[in-house]
Amino acid sequence: MFNAVLSFAALAFILALIRYIFQLISNNVRLFAITRRGFELEAELLRARVDQIIDQIQLDSRSEKVYWNGFRKFQVVLKVKETEDITSFYLSPHDGKPLPPFLPGQYLTFKLNIPGQPKPVIRCYSLSDSPNHSDYYRVTIKRLPAPEDNPDASPGLGSNFFHDFLNERDIIDVKAPSGHFYLDMSKQSPVVLIGGGVGITPVLSMLNTITEKNLRGEKSKRETWFFLGVQNSADHLMKDHLETVAGDNQNVHLHVCYSRPGKNDPLEGDHYHGEHITGNLLKRVLPSNNYEFYICAPPKMIESIRKDLADWGVPVNNIHYEAFNSDTIKKLMAAELTETESNIQVTFERSQKTLQWNPAAGSLLNFAEENGIMLDSGCRAGNCGTCLTAIKRGLVNYVVEPGTKPEARSCLTCISVPKTDLTLDG
Ligand SMILES: Cc1cc2nc3c(=O)[nH]c(=O)nc-3n(C[C@H](O)[C@H](O)[C@H](O)COP(=O)(O)OP(=O)(O)OC[C@H]3O[C@@H](n4cnc5c(N)ncnc54)[C@H](O)[C@@H]3O)c2cc1C
Ligand code: FES
Repeated sequence: MFNAVLSFAALAFILALIRYIFQLISNNVRLFAITRRGFELEAELLRARVDQIIDQIQLDSRSEKVYWNGFRKFQVVLKVKETEDITSFYLSPHDGKPLPPFLPGQYLTFKLNIPGQPKPVIRCYSLSDSPNHSDYYRVTIKRLPAPEDNPDASPGLGSNFFHDFLNERDIIDVKAPSGHFYLDMSKQSPVVLIGGGVGITPVLSMLNTITEKNLRGEKSKRETWFFLGVQNSADHLMKDHLETVAGDNQNVHLHVCYSRPGKNDPLEGDHYHGEHITGNLLKRVLPSNNYEFYICAPPKMIESIRKDLADWGVPVNNIHYEAFNSDTIKKLMAAELTETESNIQVTFERSQKTLQWNPAAGSLLNFAEENGIMLDSGCRAGNCGTCLTAIKRGLVNYVVEPGTKPEARSCLTCISVPKTDLTLDG
């Protein structure tokens, strides 16, 4: 511990020294006017990079001190209705200790004790505000009704519990922030952030992080294009906030798309569009395709935007996306499953069943359920870790990157498929 503090202090000192040297160099450059603007720019860039590294070290040391394992108790300190079916919950730690920062785009995992449910229900919700607030986290949740084609099914368990039963002062169990869909704040590359409906949450966290002052009280000048897709003005969550952010920050360009504008929905100014967010719209509005894209939206929207961007020549590495529901994961998986062999045997040892693998099942979790084997599950998207199952023999492939790193010799069945004959402890 002492060594870690020493090495952190030494590293911070060296970086501060480098920053000082660059300050001296660029001052002298100005004084004697002997060097070119290019050198100054390089010095500025290097200094900015060093500042970012110092920020990151400070953030990391703050996180090391306050991250937690397992579930921690939080209190709902504020409940704010954003639209008819979307509500924000502000959560503060019940123990009163400070909160670790998170990476903008990450999510929280909740353990919900829902009346009438035999076991706690596990659900993930993205953090919808920036990590700059050490006294609260915010999540913004859409209430899910029964599907239109199955109105007799029960409405969404977790989201309705939040809306109907969770009130200010109530206590709830929360796992520490995690997830791979986040904005790298050490970069300055221009970004396009795209949110569809409640998929705004992780990209809103990114936007707020870019536009709020950082630890040194400075604001990023990173070029940022923000696209929100909603049906109409009734669904237009965070309207005032987005308008204010765009008005206050010249580097932010806001575009709002109403896919089904109502009669009285004014398409105010040239940043309102009466259409879906598509490749066509992006081509019309953006100066070029030279951006990093971050997308969180319903399945169809993610698929069509990814395809349009690829057709436009955007490298796949510059297209980042996150899916909220298992249908999205299933669809995205289907495209990747063609290589999986179908003559693989999967044994569920505790259930005493050996079965021929069916690639159409999608994941090992779905395959087990199709065959009457009930494994534990939560998010069904590789994030919460609830479906972690020990592998007795064989190997699996992940079709999307796990949000929670699985332990050795175990797998997350909701996002994995067998690579060889497989024996699971299920
Ligand atoms: C990383 C991540 C981040 C997320 N962030 C957010 C966020 O910021 N905001 C947000 O709102 N959501 C977010 N989600 C989605 C969220 O985790 C839940 O998936 C969502 O709230 C639905 O959960 P639920 O328990 O309400 O619905 P579930 O109980 O899981 O039900 C889902 C749907 O299935 C229907 N259904 C239930 N039973 C049946 C049946 N027998 N037959 C047919 N249909 C049935 C329900 O009516 C409902 O429409 C995120 C998900 C992930 C993985
Ligand atoms: S069910 Fe959450 S990781 Fe698999």
